[in-house]
Formats: sequence, structure tokens, C-alpha cells
Amino acid sequence: MTSHRTPCPGAGTAAFHLRAGELWCEDVPVARLAERYGTPLYVYSGASIDERLATVRRAFGERATICYAMKANSNLAVLRRLHAGGAGFDLVSGGELRRLQAAALPTNQAVFAGVAKERWEIEAAVLAGILFFNVESLHELPLLAAVGCAHGKRLRVALRLNPDVDAGTHAYISTGKKENKFGVALAAAGDTVEAIARERWLQLVGYHVHLGSQLRSIDPYVQALDRVMAFVDGAAVRGREVTHYDLGGGFGIAYGQGEALDVGAVAAALLPKLQARGWQPVLEPGRYLVGDAGILVTRVLGEKSQGPTHFVLVDAAMNDLLRPALYQAEHAIVPVATTTAATREVDIVGPVCETGDFLGKRRQLPACRPGDLLAVLATGAYGASMASNYNTRRRPAEVMVDGNTARLVRARETFEQLMANEVDLHETFVA
Ligand SMILES: Cc1ncc(COP(=O)(O)O)c(C=O)c1O
Repeated sequence: MTSHRTPCPGAGTAAFHLRAGELWCEDVPVARLAERYGTPLYVYSGASIDERLATVRRAFGERATICYAMKANSNLAVLRRLHAGGAGFDLVSGGELRRLQAAALPTNQAVFAGVAKERWEIEAAVLAGILFFNVESLHELPLLAAVGCAHGKRLRVALRLNPDVDAGTHAYISTGKKENKFGVALAAAGDTVEAIARERWLQLVGYHVHLGSQLRSIDPYVQALDRVMAFVDGAAVRGREVTHYDLGGGFGIAYGQGEALDVGAVAAALLPKLQARGWQPVLEPGRYLVGDAGILVTRVLGEKSQGPTHFVLVDAAMNDLLRPALYQAEHAIVPVATTTAATREVDIVGPVCETGDFLGKRRQLPACRPGDLLAVLATGAYGASMASNYNTRRRPAEVMVDGNTARLVRARETFEQLMANEVDLHETFVA
């Protein structure tokens, strides 16, 4: 068997490459994984996750706390891998905290954001012990203070500011503009800081911004920090106990078109300003760490033509990968066994009963036969973690590859699991 490797067009990492025209993940042929575990199947490269974390660490240095935004991919094996590489976590729910605990991972390098947190979630985080809470609005303060008081602990909080910066990204994943629901607008933030300062059970240790996802330019990061610094300089109380600046996540990847965010350039632009104030950087990358590290493998079920469009029908659908339907996201789609045959324009669609159920539109693919395998690239982030049971479809299996070894890290759901909570408990409630 030849070991000559060539790059796979559209893959953001060399972990996914071609050998004799076949797609491999590290030292494992992807077709072998599909054979063994079935399709649809998410395949992750462990080395690729390690490499991305190392890139961010190199850029931001040892003093930075890298809190992986686990919503991007919360598989326990992915969490363990990132923890082993030195990452903490960005949580947005009590459920995500439960995942860390289930994986026996420490929470002391975790930050807890979320536009509306419930009491049980705050209590669970206080009991576990986290780095700080990211406060998103004035209404959260009494609840946080009450939990702090009940536990006899002064809670460390960072205030999420909404700096009204245009991240230049899809409207559904932009979060730092004044019309978005996230954070506190700068004009109102002075009052929020004063309210925190009056609260004996709360301690303002930092500021947080998160501008949106899939940013490719460093400018929004620089603009946001400049606005936060100008805000802090507006009154002494705003900077008194501040030790951290959480610049959020949003580091963009290439998705086969254009460039990924230059993480080194972001660090070079922000670090001197942060150092000058003695603020420690906290980062929340999600997609950048795991997006390119995963693919979704799907099997061709058939083809059909309708009007001017030629459809390739596959066994993965919007319930397995929602991003194309939700964000008009474009993922490169390649045959697992490449050929030199002529290509034609096709739409690649799943079996779900929705016109919005597509994985790719107007793509160039060679003729496919039922049983052929396709790979949807750069689906390690917001792929499996957004999967659902729509159309009573089982959520896909996931495997992690390490060199020449693959490990099943999530078994394909069974129909029994899928319906387990729908038993008739013979319990009624009469109002
Ligand atoms: C507060 C916060 N931090 C970090 C992230 C991670 O974003 P990304 O995966 O684009 O890095 C998100 C994503 O929605 C977020 O809401």
C-alpha cells in the first residue's frame, strides 16, 4: 500500500488527506471506518485537535486561559482530549457542567456564560468551583448574589459587554451588535458595574465580549478591546478589581474558501494592550479547535433528476448536520474514493421531509452509485452537538482517530433510547 499523501481539497487539516485517491484520517482509511461503524458517521482526528490547541497556546502564551467553548462539540472524548492539552472550558448550561463532571474533568478553569441562567445551574457551578461567571444582564445580579450569600461565597463575575462591533459574519452567529440579545450595551454598563460594586456577594474580576462566530478579521477584536478600555477608563469603579479580559471565541476557519483567522495576529494586536493593564487573557474558541478536525461520512442511496436539478440522495440529513439548513453554511463535500471521472453539478440532499434538508447545493461531483461514500468536511464543530432526532432518526455515531487506531466515542443511538422517555406512566394530572 502506498503511503504517498496528497492534500484533500477543502480539508483544513493534513490529518484528512488522500492516499492513492482514497480519503484517510491520520493513518486510517475512512472507508474502513464506515464499513465498521456504519453511516452517517462523524470521524474526528485527535492529532488535529491537539495541533489547533497548540497553535492557540503558542499565540497567546502560558498566561492565557483557553476555555474551549464546549457547545461546539461536547463529546466526552473531545473534552478529555482538550483538557489533556491544557484547556479549560466555556460553559453555557448546567448540562454542559454535568458533562465535565461525567468526564471527571476539573472545573476550576471554566467560565459560565449564558444570557439567562437558572438558580440550579448557578448553584451547581458554585458547588463545583469555577473561574468566574459571565454576567449578561442586570437581572442576573440578585440571583447570583442570593446564591453567593446562601453558600457564604463571594462570586467572581465578569461583565459581558456588548461593544456594538460588526463582526462581519452571518446574522444568526453575530452576537456583539447592539440589536443582539447578548451582553450589556456600553451605554447601560456603567449602572451594571455600580450595581455589582454595591453587592457584597459579588466581585467584578473582568470583562467579557464575544462578537460572533466565524470571524476572519482581527479588526473586530481590536475594536472591541479599545471600546472596553475606553469604557473602563470612564470611572474608577470600573477597573478596580479587574484581573481578566475574556475576548470570547469566534476564531474563523477556512471551510475550503478563503483564509482562517490569523490567530497569531489577534494575539499580537491584543496582548500588549492587555499586558499594559495587567489583565490576563481568557479565550473561548470552539470552532477553531475542533471544526476542521471532524468530517461527516455519508453513503449514497441513489440519484434523481427533477426539473433542472440533479440530486444525489444520501443517508445523512439536516438532523445530523444542521448548519447548511440553519446558516446556509457551505461545507466542502468530496468522494471518499476519488476518481478522475468527469464531474457534474448536483445538490446533495438527505432523506428528511424538508426542502431545507440539504448538505450542499450546486456542487461538482462525479457520477455516484448507491453505496458510494461521501465526506462532508470541516464538520467537527456544531455538527454532532446540534444533531437531533427529527423524523425519528437516530443521532449518528462518532469515532476518534489516533494514528492508526480508531475508537468509538459515541455509539449510534438506538430506537429504544430514542423513545425511552415516551412510556405511558399511567400518571395523569387533572387541573
Ligand atoms: C459566549 C461564547 N463564547 C464562545 C463561543 C464559541 O464560538 P466559536 O465556536 O465560533 O469559537 C460562542 C459561540 O456561540 C459563545 O456564544
